[in-house]
Parts: sequence; C-alpha cells; structure tokens
Amino acid sequence: MKEFKRYLLTAALPYANGPVHIGHLAGCYLPADIYARYLRAQKKDVKFVCGSDEHGVPITIRAMKEGITPQQVVDKYHAIIKNSFEQMGISFDIYSRTSNAVHHKTAADFFTKLYEDGLFEEKETEQYYDEEKKTFLADRYIIGTCPVCGNENAYGDQCERCGSSLSPEQLINPKSALSDAVPVKRKTKHWYFPLQNYEPFLKQWILEEHKDWKNNVYGQCKSWLDKGLQPRAMTRDSSWGIKVPLLGAEGKVLYVWFDAPIGYISATKELTKDWEDYWCKEDTKLVHFIGKDNIVFHCIIFPAMLHAHGNFVLPDNVPANEFLNIEGDKVSTSRNWAVWVDEYLKDFPEQQDVLRYVLCANAPETKDNDFTWKDFQDRTNSELVAIFGNFVNRTFVLMHKLCKGKVPPLHAEILDDADKNMLAEFELSKSKIENLLNQFKFRDALFEVIDLARKGNKYLQEKQPWIVARQTGDDGQPIGEAQKQIDNTLHVCLQLTANLAIFINPFLPFTANKMLQMMKVVDKMLDWENAGKTKLLSVGYSLRAPELLFRKIENEEVKRQVEKLQEASSKQQSTIDKKENNNKKMEEIKTEESSKASPPAGGGGLEGALKSTIQYEDFAKLDLKVGTILSAEKIEKADKLLKLEVDLGFEKRIVVSGIALHFKPEEIVGKQVVVVANLASRKMRGIESNGMILMAEDKEGKLYFVSPDQKINEGSSVT
Ligand code: MF3
Ligand code: ZN
Repeated sequence: MKEFKRYLLTAALPYANGPVHIGHLAGCYLPADIYARYLRAQKKDVKFVCGSDEHGVPITIRAMKEGITPQQVVDKYHAIIKNSFEQMGISFDIYSRTSNAVHHKTAADFFTKLYEDGLFEEKETEQYYDEEKKTFLADRYIIGTCPVCGNENAYGDQCERCGSSLSPEQLINPKSALSDAVPVKRKTKHWYFPLQNYEPFLKQWILEEHKDWKNNVYGQCKSWLDKGLQPRAMTRDSSWGIKVPLLGAEGKVLYVWFDAPIGYISATKELTKDWEDYWCKEDTKLVHFIGKDNIVFHCIIFPAMLHAHGNFVLPDNVPANEFLNIEGDKVSTSRNWAVWVDEYLKDFPEQQDVLRYVLCANAPETKDNDFTWKDFQDRTNSELVAIFGNFVNRTFVLMHKLCKGKVPPLHAEILDDADKNMLAEFELSKSKIENLLNQFKFRDALFEVIDLARKGNKYLQEKQPWIVARQTGDDGQPIGEAQKQIDNTLHVCLQLTANLAIFINPFLPFTANKMLQMMKVVDKMLDWENAGKTKLLSVGYSLRAPELLFRKIENEEVKRQVEKLQEASSKQQSTIDKKENNNKKMEEIKTEESSKASPPAGGGGLEGALKSTIQYEDFAKLDLKVGTILSAEKIEKADKLLKLEVDLGFEKRIVVSGIALHFKPEEIVGKQVVVVANLASRKMRGIESNGMILMAEDKEGKLYFVSPDQKINEGSSVT
C-alpha cells in the first residue's frame, strides 16, 4: 500500500440556497468528520476543507422565490449552514465560501490556463432567451406545464411534482420565470471542455487503478465511461457567478460545476500558505466525501480538469454515500420533507452526539436508507443509553461505592480468564475498528465500539462486584480476598472506559469529552496510539462522580417530531396549491373530495348515461376489498372531508373520503364498506389517502355506503 505523508479531505460544498438537512450530514459531512478526527487522533497531517457553494442556478432560483438578491441569499444561508456544522461538531479546518476573492481568482486562473493551453472548444448553439429581461435562460428558469402530470409549475429540466426529468421543449406553454414572456431561441457562444479526449486517461485511472473504490462509485463511473463522454460547456449566460476571464465574454460566467470543486483548492489556499504541499505533492492522499448525486463531477469531470491543468494530485478515493430517506419518503426541499439540522439543534439542545450516532449507525453507505424518529428513539435508548452509557455509569458508580472513588490496583496473582479475555479485547477491538475506518466502513466501525461496551456490560454482570462485596469481615468491609476481586473487576472496567473514550471520540466527540472530564484526564489521552492499552488510568488516581452521558428519548418527543414533519410538509403543500391555477384546483378538489364510485345506471346526476364500455380485464384491475371503519374524524379547514381509518384485515389504512357533509363521524364507525384497495395513494390536505370508499348516490345527491349484506371478514374480495 502507498504511504501517504499528508491527507487532504474535502466535503461537498453545500449550495447556499437553504439550510442543511440530516441527509446532507449522513451523506458526507459526518463520515468526513469521523475520518478527519480519526486521522488527527493518529497524529497524521490532515487538512479538512469545505465551504459554501454560492453560485449557480439554485441560488438564483431561491433569490427569485424569496424576492431578494442572490447575494442576500448566500449571505443568509452561508451563516446558517456554517453555524449548523459548527454546532454539530463538524471539525473543518476551514469553512470558506466561493464568493471569496481568492476563489474568484483561483477559478478564473484555472480557466485561463486551460484556455491558453488551447484545451477548450468554442461552440455556438441556440439557447432560450427572454427578450423582455434581455437574458438567456437556464433550463431551470423556464416554467410551464408538465406534459406528464399537468403540473403548471414544472421547470425546464424537471417537474418537481412527478419527478419527470424534462427539457424545455417538452413544456406546454413555456414561460420565462423572470418575466412570464415566452422564451425565444437565440444563438450564443460557449467554451466546451472536450471530456471525450480524457476517456483513455479516465478509464486507466479509474477502471484499472481504482478497483478499490466503493461499488456504487466504481459502478457509476464505469457506466459513464461505457456510455462515452461528451464535450461539456464550462460557461453559462448569467450575471451571477465568476466572470469568464476572456475578452468578448461579457454576460458569461463559469459553469458552477467548473468553479465549485476548484473551491476546494481556494479554501486550502486560504487556510495555509503551504497549500501546494496538499495539492501538488504525490504523497498527499486526497479524499472527496460526497453524496451519490455528485459522483460524476468528482470522479470524472473534476479529475479530468485537474489532469488537463497538470500539477495537481487526483483523489485517491471518493467514498460517496447513497441517500437517506425520511420516514419512508425521499427528502424533498420543495415539499419540505426534511429534518433540518438547525431545527434539530433547537428541539434537541446538547443532543448532537445522539444525532451523530443515529446517522452513522444508519448511514446510507451501500444503499439508500431510511431515517425514522422511532429508530432515532430506539437506537438512542437501547444502544447509547442501555449499552454504552449504562456501562460507563455503572463502572463509575461501583468504583465510587466499592473502591473509594479511586482507580483500584490490579492484583495480577488472582487475574482469571474472564479478566484476561476482557483486557485482550482492547487490542482486538482496536485492530478491527482501524481496519474498518481505513475502508470508510463507518457504520461497522461504530458497531464494533458499541460491541466492546456490550462486552463490558457482560463482564461486569458476570463478575457482580456488588455481590462479591457482601463477603464482609467483622469490620463490615469486604474481606481481603473479596476486595481484591472487586479491585480487579473495576480496574479492568475503568481501563475499558478509557479505551471506549478513545474509540468513540471520532464518532461522538462531545461524549468523549465528557468522559475525559469524569476521568480527569487531558485530551492527549484520546491519541489513537493509546487505544488498546490496558494501563491508561493510574492506580490510586481519584476520579469524578459519574455524569449521565445520554438521556432517553421519550415517546412524546418522537410523536412531536413526526407531527412537525407532517405539518411542515402539508403547509408547504397548501402554498403550492394556492399558486396553482384556481379552476384546476376546483376540479381537483371536486374529484378528491367526492371519493365515490360513478353512479349506477339510472342514478345520480348523469341519468341514464353510461361511460364507455370496458373489457373485463379493465374491471379485473380493480382490487376491491371489504373493510371496517375503525375511526373517523373531521379534517380541519376541509368541510367535505373525513379522515377514516379502515381495517382491511391484512392492514389498517388511512382513507380520506369526501363524505363529511353526509355523515357524522361517530355514526359510521364500525360500518363495513368496500374499498378500492389498489388505488394509487394521494395526498389531500397533507394527509395521504390510501384507497377510496365506494358509495352509491341517488338523484338528490344523497350518499349511501355500498356494504356486504352481512358482516364478513375484513379483507374479503369484492368480485
Ligand atoms: N453544491 C453541490 C451540491 O450540493 C456540491 C458541490 S461540490 C463541489 O450538490 F465540489 F463542487 F464543490
Ligand atoms: Zn409532472
């Protein structure tokens, strides 16, 4: 294996267009921080850099939405993001921003060098232009109706309602987001970086020399390289960004994905005058921590740029994580489905380590994972509190009770196998944890630490020093032999506690610090070289009283967080609704709120009229099931809707039904109904409705339930 002299760790520069959420933390900042802390504990030469990504379309869109300037947007969110990271203990050596002068110069010089080396291709193409605002429009700035779902506020690159990726040509009634004008095509010139020329280099470097990269990363790179690379425009028509440093390039800025990764270099420059050691010397290990949506930029485009420029090291690894979902649903900032770090910190003050723990234990290292508040509670209570915290606390309490608050001596002559095995675990754990951390397997490494604490509990449980202490002599004190056994047990447990502090430190630094206080030792003890040692605390040294390391998370707190998440997203939904065209909304509400079957022939409003004939196969697509209404309640501000909980035998479901004007909630509880059980779920007033209740409607518009004529089992099919 290659020997590295120094480490340069980068974490993706977050867009300063909103606060960071826990998915960001789990995806790259937390693993990067754990790795940085681990290396620092090993006394390695480490620089850990990050900063805000302050250019690009997302920022300008946010400015538009909030009615402020892009500068105001980045100033606001840079401060919020920086603060969230600081409070969470993400230990960047520098958190910079791409609006800094150093960065503007570094990025512009980088571009100039490639330009002067003749590496760009200049091309003229047609792009959308807003004649009213006299500006070219990025795809995101074009808004129109989504051809897939009819959302009237779809963007030229994507519909945020149905998730379809689009091109501006596909939008129905495209409009400029800036002026409402219909965009026209106009010629414009840009500088393209011919990525295809770097294919042989990239194939060799990644596919041959970096088979060690994580599967998800290697796989994505391989598929990009197999498909073949295309020239990519490295400039854009915009007024927000780094000006293209060429004559005749007015109104053009560097493409944000050209400038942002150079931000890693600028941040290092700002941090240290020795920045070139980190960027230009072959014995630097450069590691980019990112989320999976950033893989192509960090593994293909940026390395090709660095290679083309020359004189720079390339990343040795890019341990990208997958995504963290929240309560079973994809994080979405537009739907406000996210747990924001700044809000977490307000709701759970002093509980940074608990979140760090859960996010690491549940990190989406190899596949997308789910964060749920229930899991947050379970892991905290049953792992941190019940295993780790419990072991440390018991050790301290017993030491104060049975060993006068001092580190007891070790009586080698009576050490038994259990003691020896426990002591031997320190070294074993160390090598397992190191091995895992070196491979960026943070979850497994963390589980090893917890496992060591679990072994400690088991050992203590077997030794039962509180029972041994009952063998007292005339003076009421444990007899000599018993005291010796107690001493040994607590000596081992205390040395184990010291080891646990070293091991947990990269993951839960706040906790490690509390442990140092309790042991009255200085941070030097946390040096990794001390891990595995069995004589960290000196005999006779008096220690402080125990402090609880973790507190339990109560059911009430979990409930509040889940509600908060749902409220925030339904509030967001209703603002989106308001923006949508009114007629359309009325139509939607009509269909949503009258969740009833089409009237039978001769009944209802459409007297005598039948819909067009369907085939049996069409009918067979319906999954109709008998269910029993378990509960019914009114929905605030929706006078036609009832929220029903229906037992379908195999599961209980929430169905929102438009029958509130016809039935009182209490009179329908217990009723058996027929449910369209395989209807796609749908959000109504922020509540997800899973199915539809069949109703009959008479001429007067009165509704009747369609029910089996006798009580039958829930889940019975209607065929
Ligand atoms: N701002 C980008 C994102 O949030 C990440 C930029 S990473 C950098 O997805 F390398 F470009 F800095
Ligand atoms: Zn759509």
